[in-house]
Amino acid sequence: WKTIDELDLAGKRVLLRVDVNVPVENGRVTDATRIARIAPTVTDIADKGGRVILLAHFDRPKGKVVPEMSLRQILPALEDKLGRKVAFAEDCVGEAAQAAVDALSDGEVLLLENTRFHPGEEKNDPDFAQALAHLGDAYVNDAFSAAHRAHASTEALARLLPCAAGRLMAEELQALEKALGTPDRPVVAVVGGAKVSTKLDLLSNLVEKVDTLVIGGGMANTFLAAQGLDVGKSLCEHDLTGTAKEIAQKAAEKGCTILLPRDVVVAREFKAGAESETVKAEDTPADAMILDAGPDSVAHVEMALENAKTLVWNGPLGAFEIEPFDRGTVTAAKKAAELTKAGKLVSVAGGGDTVAALNAAGVAQDFSYVSTAGGAFLEWMEGKVLPGVKALGA
Ligand code: 3PG
Repeated sequence: WKTIDELDLAGKRVLLRVDVNVPVENGRVTDATRIARIAPTVTDIADKGGRVILLAHFDRPKGKVVPEMSLRQILPALEDKLGRKVAFAEDCVGEAAQAAVDALSDGEVLLLENTRFHPGEEKNDPDFAQALAHLGDAYVNDAFSAAHRAHASTEALARLLPCAAGRLMAEELQALEKALGTPDRPVVAVVGGAKVSTKLDLLSNLVEKVDTLVIGGGMANTFLAAQGLDVGKSLCEHDLTGTAKEIAQKAAEKGCTILLPRDVVVAREFKAGAESETVKAEDTPADAMILDAGPDSVAHVEMALENAKTLVWNGPLGAFEIEPFDRGTVTAAKKAAELTKAGKLVSVAGGGDTVAALNAAGVAQDFSYVSTAGGAFLEWMEGKVLPGVKALGA
């Protein structure tokens, strides 16, 4: 793929696909991280004299106009992060869009309404892509976090205009390549979260690529059950113990060490401050649930991190949203941050809950790289080629 430095931008209408699918409450943006992260690309194109036309989706309106899903509500946060005025068009194609594009001068920025208000967007419809292409002279994709979707504004459009990866897209791809493509070894992957069923492909791909795989969170219980342990009332996908065994077998063949919790924090109730105790994994009481990794388990994770050169992290080690079951995640995350700051570890994290967990631990800023992507990060970790990236050219 090309970078924006390789495109002729001065005086050109540049369709810039961004991901500003940010949390909004009562019409106000509550976390503007994704908006802040696209700012360098927008500024760069505008400063080079390009006319920036922002294309984006918001939420899942399913091809219909849903007023509560208008991108207008993110305008104030966008103007704030860009430090410049942004015009808005009520539609992303047709007369309203064309008039707004025609009114743009060099260096100005325009945000078009939610691309998903049109059914052609998610269908990757060539006519809809053509209608978008009609508005621009070049296409830049800065939406890595939406690159797992083969939609008109993320995929088809790249084939209709001269195209390039934006700064954030390039940064994401480089960070991920460094973590799993050509990493410094040993590589440790920490994978947590509630269910194994959502991460089977991911685990299967990782055991081929990493030296140590730490499995935590609810999904570790399925692996413990696969070893014949009684996990009591813990969240566990008993129908997947066979699959867990297969993954463990594959890991052994590929020389990947799987670390499962040795001791666990258990409780009878899942609520803040619930009475809890630490027991060996094999001693989980029949009426209790495993809610976090115990100190011995976390010490083993810390040791694995100390011996590693690269870390890829996705998902919490326990029920981190409820104290005290955040302890395992927070302790391990702090260790990773400390090693990163000391220049001993390259740490890359991403995917939904992960960023929230690292923020809660107060260490997100100390990781080498925190991806803006949720689903796209997972698909990339599964080893999939993301359509939005592929469309930009190899
Ligand atoms: C995200 O928020 O992860 C992306 O914007 C993709 O959104 P989607 O899951 O609705 O396609």
